[in-house]
Amino acid sequence: MDDKQLQSLIEQMTLEEKVAQLLQLTPNFHECSDQEGQITGPMQELGITDHMVAASGSVLGLSGAEAVINIQNDYMKHSRLGIPLLFMADVVHGFKTIFPIPLAIGCSWDIELAEKSAEIAAREAAVSGVHVTFAPMVDLVRDPRWGRVMETTGEDPYLNSQFARAFVRGYQGVRLKEEHDRLAACVKHFAAYGAPEGGREYNTVDMSERQLRESYLPAYKAALDEGCEMVMSSFNTVDGIPATGNEKLLRGILRAEWNFDGVVISDWASIREMIAHGAARDDHEAAYRAIKAGVDIEMMTPCYVQHLPQLVASGLIDDKLIDEAVLRILRLKAKLDLFNHPLRAADPVRERDVVLCREHRQASYELAVKSCVLLKNDNVLPLHQAAKVALIGPFAQSDDILGWWSCEGKTEDAVKLGDALSARMQAGALKIIEGCGVHTIAEHVLEQSLEAARCADVIVLALGEESAMSGEGASRTDIRLPQAQLELIQRLKALGKPIAAVIFNGRPLDLHGVFDEADALLEAWFPGTEGGAAVADLLLGHVNPSGRLSMSFPQSVGQVPVYYNHFNTGRPFNSAKRGERYVSKYIDADHEPLLPFGYGLSYTSFDYSELSLSSSEITANQTLEVSVTVTNIGSRSGIETIQLYVRDISGEVVRPLRELKDFTKLELQPGESKVVTFQLTEEQLRYHHSDLRYTSDPGQFHILVGPNSCDTLTDSFKLV
Ligand code: IFM
Repeated sequence: MDDKQLQSLIEQMTLEEKVAQLLQLTPNFHECSDQEGQITGPMQELGITDHMVAASGSVLGLSGAEAVINIQNDYMKHSRLGIPLLFMADVVHGFKTIFPIPLAIGCSWDIELAEKSAEIAAREAAVSGVHVTFAPMVDLVRDPRWGRVMETTGEDPYLNSQFARAFVRGYQGVRLKEEHDRLAACVKHFAAYGAPEGGREYNTVDMSERQLRESYLPAYKAALDEGCEMVMSSFNTVDGIPATGNEKLLRGILRAEWNFDGVVISDWASIREMIAHGAARDDHEAAYRAIKAGVDIEMMTPCYVQHLPQLVASGLIDDKLIDEAVLRILRLKAKLDLFNHPLRAADPVRERDVVLCREHRQASYELAVKSCVLLKNDNVLPLHQAAKVALIGPFAQSDDILGWWSCEGKTEDAVKLGDALSARMQAGALKIIEGCGVHTIAEHVLEQSLEAARCADVIVLALGEESAMSGEGASRTDIRLPQAQLELIQRLKALGKPIAAVIFNGRPLDLHGVFDEADALLEAWFPGTEGGAAVADLLLGHVNPSGRLSMSFPQSVGQVPVYYNHFNTGRPFNSAKRGERYVSKYIDADHEPLLPFGYGLSYTSFDYSELSLSSSEITANQTLEVSVTVTNIGSRSGIETIQLYVRDISGEVVRPLRELKDFTKLELQPGESKVVTFQLTEEQLRYHHSDLRYTSDPGQFHILVGPNSCDTLTDSFKLV
């Protein structure tokens, strides 16, 4: 259907029917459904009539081909004008084949694999009846206390933007209408949801518009530039106004400035939550503010269905606003080919073959391997082939490794670390003991662990957070490993045996009690369905770790927020003059994070040399070539991520100490060297000035190239 046909359809709709299109409900509201769907927010009394449900426009949280077909068929039977339902769900890092959590995917710096993971997630979800995914989540984060850091690709606007684009490409493909195995993507949470004060979930976000545009908005914009069909407004306030009722944000920046003409959906209950924020007196005013701001679909509260008809009748809201919102929703239904194929790809027979198939599990394994980050290694890893290993800890045989938002993923499908190691090691070489629970430790189990450890050559500790300790509604003030696990480490450390620790977790942790105590430390994050296999292969050296942190690890929670692209201050800390008083630092902690953005080790080593620039000056229409030689100086092949940073020495407003501008991944054999060349243009030097102009300034710039954001070779050039 084209716009003209959709317009004429809208002309036939009653106001009540139009307003019902703007309502999204969980499947349990539909009489014919025995499914609750995924409940991802607070349930409350909605006072919604059967009449409203019968005309509602979309369903959230339901998947499973049969269940979807059932509701859609029943709905279409009763739909006066033959308008199909849209089915939306949180397909965030996989559908049933679960990929590593997005923060881990961020650490892979592997844009192609990220795209593939989204394509696979789309294929599985589509055949199970889903049309739209509430992903990608691209909120920039700087505070690991916030539980949802696990859902984003990290702290850098450029890296996040690259991933945002890749996910959208993977979900949507290029011809959404014809490719029924794809999903429409919904970028979220617009905007700046990743910056709540104190890292506390749903808390106030307050920042300058310049900062918002400079760091937080680019990844949403990147997703939209890639053609992302939908946007979800966020729970938080932006400059004092809840994002869901924020006209400047939604109609101003999103629609007028960026020309976004797709569907905007609220987050779960975020229209009604304007009342709790203190930005609306009641549902009536909340509906008024949200529709004026440009929200098309209301998720799980009844403000629109109950109040928009009256708001139109009283003339407070122009009915054009309703028609526009309906048109956007119908247009999306048409783009998804639902008017011709209301069931789209939903197919219970194909579903059995496609979902969790071998090919998808293999892709999940590959991404898990690339996402793990080797944080420390004092000659313990890879494990020696003949070594006797005691695998100890709550994650030794845990299947809680999928992470939050794992959609239809089932823990029983996850490969556990202990099983994977057993399958790969000689009989008798591995002893597996739980050691302690995530939060509890019992003396007799501890004794068994000590006994097993005494008989082993090396201890492998499998530690971490339960998946429920991160994700939505899981902010923490203490981001260390739970006390029981710290105690386990101490007791085992006393044996004097080499220790390699693996941690499964959803946020950068304060690594006190494990970083110094372990001889090697592997960050596995929540690695997904094939997580155990990937980690086992890394520990045994069957594959070489290549992940690089996409979010800094603080020394302690007191240092938070700590991120690499910060400003210098007027009295910067100088590591050569540690005792200086009147400088920007803490007196009880180091200045730098424990582990910086971009950091990660390998079982081989890389040397950087001969950084050279094609010129010492460029004009605005010239390109600067930045070359560096990278050599594998170790004894096995490995993948290196070469990172290019820029520092603008003096700007109209202060500029970050360094900003990632480009990167490339390279596999090098032992002894092999390659010259890597980056192209840098004036466009990459632009920034938001005090009047929000996005331009560059002539002047001096530093170029920094290296394996992470700290250890870099430096040169400089002038923009003239
Ligand atoms: O998509 C999610 C969002 O990220 C948080 N609130 C609920 C939504 C729908 O499940």
